[in-house]
Amino acid sequence: MGERKLLRTTIYRHVKNYYSNVYCGRLSPSVEITSGISLARTLGYASDFLEQLNLYNFPFEKIYPCGSVVDYIDVCTPMRILNLGSGVGLDGLYVLHKAGKRRSSVEVVNLDVVYSILKKGRQWSNNFLTLNFSKLKWVCGNGYMLPFVDNSFKYVLINGSFNLFENKELLLREVRRVMLRGGFVLIADILANESVPIYIRHNLDAWVWNMAGALSFEKIKEVCCKVGFGMVSLLDAQEIINSLFYRAILRIGF
Ligand SMILES: C[S@@+](CC[C@H](N)C(=O)[O-])C[C@H]1O[C@@H](n2cnc3c(N)ncnc32)[C@H](O)[C@@H]1O
Repeated sequence: MGERKLLRTTIYRHVKNYYSNVYCGRLSPSVEITSGISLARTLGYASDFLEQLNLYNFPFEKIYPCGSVVDYIDVCTPMRILNLGSGVGLDGLYVLHKAGKRRSSVEVVNLDVVYSILKKGRQWSNNFLTLNFSKLKWVCGNGYMLPFVDNSFKYVLINGSFNLFENKELLLREVRRVMLRGGFVLIADILANESVPIYIRHNLDAWVWNMAGALSFEKIKEVCCKVGFGMVSLLDAQEIINSLFYRAILRIGF
């Protein structure tokens, strides 16, 4: 196996095992991070949506989003949306909430590499059939090899998951393959002002918590261009974390 492939596999396995353990409570995050409903509030998720989920005991302790990407979707026509690295599926529910009466024409596929978190999200939504979550699908899979035919989705959401991929080019090629022309990828993640120092990139846990895999906006544009995404915009540059990192939301299209 080539060195680059070995690194990619090592990071992939570590991230997968780490989230499996975090989601089932065997492990606590190794860095101090805000989570839960207060994180969702800070990131700008609509309060009526959060209150509704709270009323039904949604497992907010299992969410790790980086931004409120759904706010940038125009939910007006029949469409399929892929929520890549969905975790428990908060954004899928948010799409259906935004779609309101039109929710029957929207299908959201939640895809994650950790089976147990998909099961948890599915069980939760099945308990509330009255809320009509039949348009949510749950798929266990790897973002590097999406189990979908070409041209399947109008939007691909990658919320807090983009930086966990060591090979962004491979990921984005795969995302482009399953996307419809005219569609968009919405990414919320941490961006770096400059190259991330090698001691951070060599720390496997820093891959889990989105720092080691952070790229600059310019670098992301370069990778996008390489895979044929001509349009890359920085929709929101939010909270500055420190002199190296900031949270951002990007829209990518072709
Ligand atoms: C920071 S969490 C974000 C989860 C979710 N988007 C949210 O807002 O709660 C990152 C997620 O990406 C998933 N993930 C990591 N590597 C993946 C891969 N190769 N393919 C699919 N999902 C992956 C993890 O299991 C985890 O659920």
